[in-house]
Amino acid sequence: MNSGGYMAIPPGAILPESLPEFKIFMRNREGKYVLWAADGNRVTVAQLAKLSESGVQDVFVDIEESFKYEQYLEANLGKILDNQGITVDRKAAIFSRVSTNVVKAAFETSLKSGAMGMETLQRTQKMIENAMKFITDSNSLPALAKMIGHDYETYEHAMKVTWWTVAFISENPEILTYCQKDEISDAEQISETLRSCGVCALLHDIGKAYVPQEVINKNGPLTEIEWEIMKRHPLSGLAMLLDSELPAFVKKAIVQHHEDFDGGGYPMNLEGTNITVLARVLRIMDVFDAMTSRRPYKDPLSPMKVIQIMIGTPSHPEDNAEPAQDPRDRGMGRCFDHELLGKFIIFIGNVKLD
Ligand SMILES: [Fe+2]
Repeated sequence: MNSGGYMAIPPGAILPESLPEFKIFMRNREGKYVLWAADGNRVTVAQLAKLSESGVQDVFVDIEESFKYEQYLEANLGKILDNQGITVDRKAAIFSRVSTNVVKAAFETSLKSGAMGMETLQRTQKMIENAMKFITDSNSLPALAKMIGHDYETYEHAMKVTWWTVAFISENPEILTYCQKDEISDAEQISETLRSCGVCALLHDIGKAYVPQEVINKNGPLTEIEWEIMKRHPLSGLAMLLDSELPAFVKKAIVQHHEDFDGGGYPMNLEGTNITVLARVLRIMDVFDAMTSRRPYKDPLSPMKVIQIMIGTPSHPEDNAEPAQDPRDRGMGRCFDHELLGKFIIFIGNVKLD
């Protein structure tokens, strides 16, 4: 019996010949929800074609069955993102939903055990694998650009950093050859290395599972102690993933993603190319997404303004002090590998931003 209402879902999320384990409803002219497909029943091509012909934009799922719908999306992500009958914006929303759920589960399960379990890691890898074609398709980038200015929330941030990272590296595949010592010669290795970069981006802040929420979401400057707690997250992340099967370059990038190119970053105060290339890429993506997002203590900045701050050239002299005010935005120009930053600026220039 439905008590909490219904949520709208795109008909394109329902794959032909699939067996959704949840009921699907349509809304009739009187606004009543009528059963369209019973749970466990095969949804036929003919049924979906009829739905498409009638121009229906949304079908509905009982909110009490939303968990089953989430599971269905995750299990069928690759096929859904490949479905021509669904708009890129709706695909982006589905990708966002599944990936934030996966990263949330990774945070929660790892926090309980102190380490990331094999099952959680495999779930993360599968998600990235299924999403990679969509992320690397340049048609998906305008949908990502629409998410600029959204709230900064750890799980959503991880999802956006993943998308930026995979899209950026796939446009600059030479980065992959610097990721690991072994030579990358065939398409399968390229795809596997790119997938590992995506997993790394999704999990880069996993150590924040140990940082109290009141510190992460604090509406004001952090105290010295809070800042010290915050600065532990790259090492906590490494500790959580140390025994996992992830390649060494992924573990290194997680522990180094707050190192600054000119030194002065944390936790090891590394410099230049002593910081791995993937960590240098993550440093750029992480800051770009954080500064273009709405945070509890700060309004979002426009992408172009963020780029100006990142290259260390404020648009107005009075802006000079602004990025230094909050240690969470500290550094800027000196933080980044300028060769990579140049490539990122070219990449961003090719994404249609409002
Ligand atoms: Fe971080």
